[in-house]
Amino acid sequence: MKVLVTGGAGYIGSHCVKVLLDKGYEVVVVDNLETGYKDAVDSKAKLYIGDIADESLMDRVFSENQVLGVIHFAAFSLVGESMTNPYKYYENNVAKTNRLLESMVKHNVKNIVFSSTAATYGEPEKTPIVETDRQLPTNVYGQTKLAMEQMISWYGKIYGINHVALRYFNVAGAIQDGSIGEAHNPETHLIPIILQVANGKREKLNVFGDDYQTKDGSCIRDYIHVLDLCDAHVLALEYLLNGNSSGVFNLGSGEGFSVFEMVEAARKITGHPIPLEIASRRAGDPAILIASSKKARQVLKWNPTRENIEVMIQDAWTWEKNKRY
Ligand code: UFG
Repeated sequence: MKVLVTGGAGYIGSHCVKVLLDKGYEVVVVDNLETGYKDAVDSKAKLYIGDIADESLMDRVFSENQVLGVIHFAAFSLVGESMTNPYKYYENNVAKTNRLLESMVKHNVKNIVFSSTAATYGEPEKTPIVETDRQLPTNVYGQTKLAMEQMISWYGKIYGINHVALRYFNVAGAIQDGSIGEAHNPETHLIPIILQVANGKREKLNVFGDDYQTKDGSCIRDYIHVLDLCDAHVLALEYLLNGNSSGVFNLGSGEGFSVFEMVEAARKITGHPIPLEIASRRAGDPAILIASSKKARQVLKWNPTRENIEVMIQDAWTWEKNKRY
C-alpha cells in the first residue's frame, strides 16, 4: 500500500517515513528540499525532488504510484519569520496546499492526514485545550495552518476527500539511533538550542521571559516525542482507510514543563551546566500550552510510549552529537 509523504525530508516527515516503512507501507516522498535534507530520507522510500505545487510533477507522482493516502507535512513553520514575511507563508503553506488538493482531486486520491498545530488556537481560553476550543491564531504561521485545515475540510465536503488534521503541541526528540533529527536553519526551538549550548555550539540559552503567571515564571509547553507523533499519523491514516469519518485531533502529553524544567532535565542528561540569561518575552508566546489528547487516545487508539521528557531530551542529545546535516 503506497503512501505519499509531502515534506518527507523534514524533521517530522523523515521520521514518519521510517515509521511507515517499519509498518510495511511503501512510501513516496515529495520534497523541494528548501528546508528538508535529502540525507534524511530513508533510502527505501521513493524520493521525488520538487514542489507539491508543480502540477506536472504531481501528475507524474500520482500516475507512477497508486497512492492511497497523503500525509501532508510540507510547510514553513517558523513563527517569527511568518511575522516578517507573511507572503512567504501564505504562498508556500496555503497556496501550495491548494495545488496539492487539486492534484489529489484530479487523480482521485481520497485520503489526507494533515500536519496542523496548536498555534491554530492562539492564546488558550482554558487548559488543557480540547479540539472544540476557539481557534484564534496570534501569528501568521498559525493562521496559515488554520486556513489549510479549513481548505482541506471544504475539499472534503465538495470532492469527498477524507481528512484528519492533527494539531500538535511541542514536538521533540529523534529516532534513538541518532540517524535523523531536528535541523532547522536558523534554529529557534528550545530543546535543540539548549543542546547546542551543551555541545559547545552556543554560549548560553536566552530564556524568553521569567515573569509569566506560571509556577516558576517561564513558559510552559506540552512536549511530545516525534516517534509517538508519527505513530498517530499512521493510526490516523488507517482510521481513514477503514472508512471512518473525517476529524481533528490534538496530539500532546497532557502535561506541561517550564523552560527552566527543560533546562534542568538537559543538565542532568548532558552533564553540562547550560548557562542561562533571562531575556525579554518573545512576541506571541502564550504562557501555557497544554493539550488534551483524550480524543486521539480514545478514537485513534493512540498510545504514546515516550512521554518522559528525559527520553525526548536524551534522543535529541544523541542526534545533536551525531548530526550529519
Ligand atoms: N524559548 C526560550 N528560549 C529559546 C527558545 C525558546 O526561552 O531560545 C522558549 C519559548 O519562549 C517557549 C518555549 O521555549 O516558551 C518553547 O519554544 P519553542 O520555540 O521550542 O516552541 P513554541 O512553543 O514556540 O512553538 C512550537 C512549534 C511551533 C508551533 C507551536 C505551537 O515550534 O511550530 O509550538 O504552539 F506553532
